Amino acid sequence: MDWGMRNRLAGIISPVTGRCVMLAIDHGYFQGPTTGLERPGETIAPLLPHADSLMLTRGVLRSVVDANVRVPIVLRVSGGTSILKEDLSDEALTVSIEDAIRLNASCLAISIFVGSDHERRTLTNLAKLCDEGQKYGIPVLAVTAVGKQMSRDARYLGLACRIAAELGAQIVKTYYCEGFAKVVEGCPAPVVIAGGKKIDEREALTLAYNAVRDGAVGVDMGRNIFQSQWPVQMIRAVRSIVQDGTTDVQAWDRFQSEKDKGNK
Ligand code: 5RP
Repeated sequence: MDWGMRNRLAGIISPVTGRCVMLAIDHGYFQGPTTGLERPGETIAPLLPHADSLMLTRGVLRSVVDANVRVPIVLRVSGGTSILKEDLSDEALTVSIEDAIRLNASCLAISIFVGSDHERRTLTNLAKLCDEGQKYGIPVLAVTAVGKQMSRDARYLGLACRIAAELGAQIVKTYYCEGFAKVVEGCPAPVVIAGGKKIDEREALTLAYNAVRDGAVGVDMGRNIFQSQWPVQMIRAVRSIVQDGTTDVQAWDRFQSEKDKGNK
C-alpha cells in the first residue's frame, strides 16, 4: 500500500488504537432534510471535536463545514435515488475523482446493494471507484446497504461484506446482527457498524460495545448521535467505548453523569 493511501487511512482508523469513530451525516443524499440535520452546520459544530472523521456529501461539506477544521473527510460519492422511490438500489457515482481530490477527501464512500435489482451496477461502481482510489491513494468505504426486501442477518451481511472487500474496499460498513463475529471473520477488510434508526441511548451504547467486542474497528454512526437529546454526551460515550475500551455499562454511567451536569 502506498504512502498516501496509508496516510489517509491513518486519519480514519487510528494507528494507535486500530479503532475509529466516524460521524455520519450523509443521510440527506436520499432522505432530504433528516431530523437533526436540518441545519447540519449547527448540528456538527459541538460534535466534531469528538469525531475521528466526518462522513457527508460534497454539498453539505462545501456549504457548512469550515475548511479550517482539521477533520478527515469521508466523502459520499454514490447516490441518484430518493425515498420517494420503492427501490433505492439504482445508485450511480455522483462525484468525480477530481472533485473528491479537490475537496481533500480522505476516503470515498459508496453503497452497494447485494441481492437487489441493481446489484451488478452497484458492485461494478464499487470496483471502478476502487480503481480510481488506487490511482490517487484514496481508500474506499463500501456501505453494505440493505434494501427493504433484504434481511439484516449474518448470512446476508457476511456475503455483502465479503464481496465488498474482495472487490477492493479498504473499509466496509455494515449493521450489527446476531452472529456478527462471523461477519467480521469472513471479511478481510476492517468493518465498522452503522447505528441505524434512533434507539434508546442505553441500547445504542450496548450496540457499539457489542460491535467492537465482536471485532468491528469502530462505528460510522449518525442518528443515534445527532438525534439524541444529548448528542455531545452521546458521542463522548460512544468514543469512550470505541477508543478507550470502556464497557457499555461504564459508558452509560459516564453518559448519565455528563447529561446531569449538562456537560457540553
Ligand atoms: C446511509 C448511510 C449512513 O451514513 C449510515 O446509515 C450511518 O448512519 P446511521 O448511524 O444513522 O445509520 O450510509 O446510507
